[in-house]
Amino acid sequence: MFRLADFNFHGRTVFLRADLNSPIEKGRIISDARFRAVLPTVKHLLEDGAKLVIGTHQSKPYKGDYTTTEEHARILSELLGQEVEYVEDIFGRYAREKIKGLEPGEAIILENLRFAAEEIKYKPLEECERTFFVRKLAPLIDYVVNDAFAAAHRSQPSLVGFARLKPMAMGFLMEREIKALTRAYGTDERPRVYVLGGAKVEDSLRVAENVLRNGKADLILTGGLVGHVFTLAKGFYLGDSNIEFMERIGLLGLVDRAEKILDDFYPYVRTPVDFAIDYKGERLEIDLLSDEKRLFDEHPILDIGSRTVEKYGDILKGARVIVANGPMGVFEREEFALGTVGVFKAIGESSGFSVVGGGHSIASIYRYNITGISHISTGGGAMLSFFSGEKLPVLEALRVSYERFKDGA
Ligand code: 3PG
Repeated sequence: MFRLADFNFHGRTVFLRADLNSPIEKGRIISDARFRAVLPTVKHLLEDGAKLVIGTHQSKPYKGDYTTTEEHARILSELLGQEVEYVEDIFGRYAREKIKGLEPGEAIILENLRFAAEEIKYKPLEECERTFFVRKLAPLIDYVVNDAFAAAHRSQPSLVGFARLKPMAMGFLMEREIKALTRAYGTDERPRVYVLGGAKVEDSLRVAENVLRNGKADLILTGGLVGHVFTLAKGFYLGDSNIEFMERIGLLGLVDRAEKILDDFYPYVRTPVDFAIDYKGERLEIDLLSDEKRLFDEHPILDIGSRTVEKYGDILKGARVIVANGPMGVFEREEFALGTVGVFKAIGESSGFSVVGGGHSIASIYRYNITGISHISTGGGAMLSFFSGEKLPVLEALRVSYERFKDGA
């Protein structure tokens, strides 16, 4: 694959596909983690004299955090110490005029790419190449740099559509991500412990199936809704309120699949031994085997309990390789952050090589100043796809571009 060092960008127009999709609360971006992660690439391109066109998506149509990239432009400008102009257009005449007017060392950011209909479908590279987005912008662009690791599992025009038309290089972030994830996945060091939490249960089951079947993991620790599904699969009842909630969001259908994983790999998948519920507005911890378990009927489980954190912590201390994705509980509420923070801290304290990701949940790592993690991935779904053993469309596109242009074609 092409790297940034392979090209001289001076005076050339570069389309940088970043992933600045960020958590938003009350209309404001609440974490600049993905901005900071892409900064070295942006700086390199500008210092090299590129005319820089940045593109990102933000959420999906009709979701609460689906919005313009105006604030993205402001945050990026602040971090960079240089204006990144917000262009309220994607590939229309206004955007094209702005691109043509760029001077070396100047940058603009296009409107939320998912405001364009073509960008919200997943299509093969060949079809992405024929979109208006690609056809209108390609004549103005010399190089593409892809640093959107968090969207590497998406086959969309801005991510893969230019691969056969322009030399496409990976940015510094993409390179770091691929290197760290490949090391964690391919290593022979043992024990290799996977920690699967959060709400992306189906994706996590795919990871569990892949890494256990292919001998890539020695132990899996579960939490969050992934932990709920495995706990049910082990035959424990989690109370009416929790079951109803899981049914509402479509998770009960996954219990059979989790049971199959347990049937095949029983001792290698660990589930929480205690949980924390919201009892009259306060955190209350309940052992899975205690009588108080009846409180689960009326009160939602929002975190794993301290005994589980301790047990998981002991295992993580001895791990040589750790891969973790997703929170252990609703860490956004401080009283239910104990599980997530406790487990992430234990990972940070382990001397093994660790990779932690999970989209928005990595915000908690920064919020609680957790240090010592070898690689904090910007990827949530992308990281899960990688450890599921799937081919990531963006990595495939980078390969295609390299093959096409490596001899200077
Ligand atoms: C993410 O946050 O996982 C990436 O930005 C991809 O977003 P998507 O799941 O909406 O495609």
